[in-house]
Amino acid sequence: ERQEDFKGKKVLITAGPTYEKIDPVRFIGNYSSGKMGIALAEELAGRGAEVLLVCGPVNQKTSHPAIHWVDVESASQMCEVAVKEFPGCDLAILSAAVADFTPKEKANCKIKREKEDLLLELMPTQDIAAELGQMKKDSQLLVGFALETNDEESNACSKMQRKNLDMIVLNSLNDKGAGFGGDTNKVTIMHREGEKNVYELKTKVEVAKDIADQIAARYLMGS
Ligand code: PMT
Repeated sequence: ERQEDFKGKKVLITAGPTYEKIDPVRFIGNYSSGKMGIALAEELAGRGAEVLLVCGPVNQKTSHPAIHWVDVESASQMCEVAVKEFPGCDLAILSAAVADFTPKEKANCKIKREKEDLLLELMPTQDIAAELGQMKKDSQLLVGFALETNDEESNACSKMQRKNLDMIVLNSLNDKGAGFGGDTNKVTIMHREGEKNVYELKTKVEVAKDIADQIAARYLMGS
């Protein structure tokens, strides 16, 4: 039986890495493949949602008619689209691995090899989750991810509070098969009110279903 529990909902999803330009040929990036975010987009679109997928540079694709894909490269581009589109959405899920720092200056020409050390000066990017957390209305739901390497649950919990999220999906680099790149993930879903659900290692497609089920059960009742 096909679920239509997200019918009529407009969902913003961020996915993939961001690339922060150093010069015309180089960037600072990370290992996110976009798979987790794309699995979420497909799950929610399959359950009736209209999805806006704001995605950094990835090799994956999806062609569901209810997914509107917006390509971005940098954290600032991702932030601009997310801040503009969030007011028109019922729900946002932030699965992107957004760079926390970007070069202060982007060189216009390819930086030449020199004998001396090269010092790159970085500045913090905008925190998209925190910005949306500030904008959030009572009718809107904001779901983040946390990628942790230590003190996982307490770090995730404080991220949820600091960024004003309703729910956070924790994945730890200490769990084999979790996090970046692969087709699997192992998550713990934590809610603002303190409830916590620990899941086994599963495919990202199955993890996306668990996340959608949690959202539907707790926040879509009677809507
Ligand atoms: O793309 P895959 O290869 O499938 O990998 C999936 C994933 C590991 C990238 C994904 O499951 C994941 O954990 N995404 C969040 C990665 C991350 O940057 O976590 P964080 O703990 O640094 O950030 C916390 C939250 O704030 C996240 O929702 C993040 O999207 C958001 N954030 C962070 C920094 C920033 N400048 N803006 C943000 O919105």
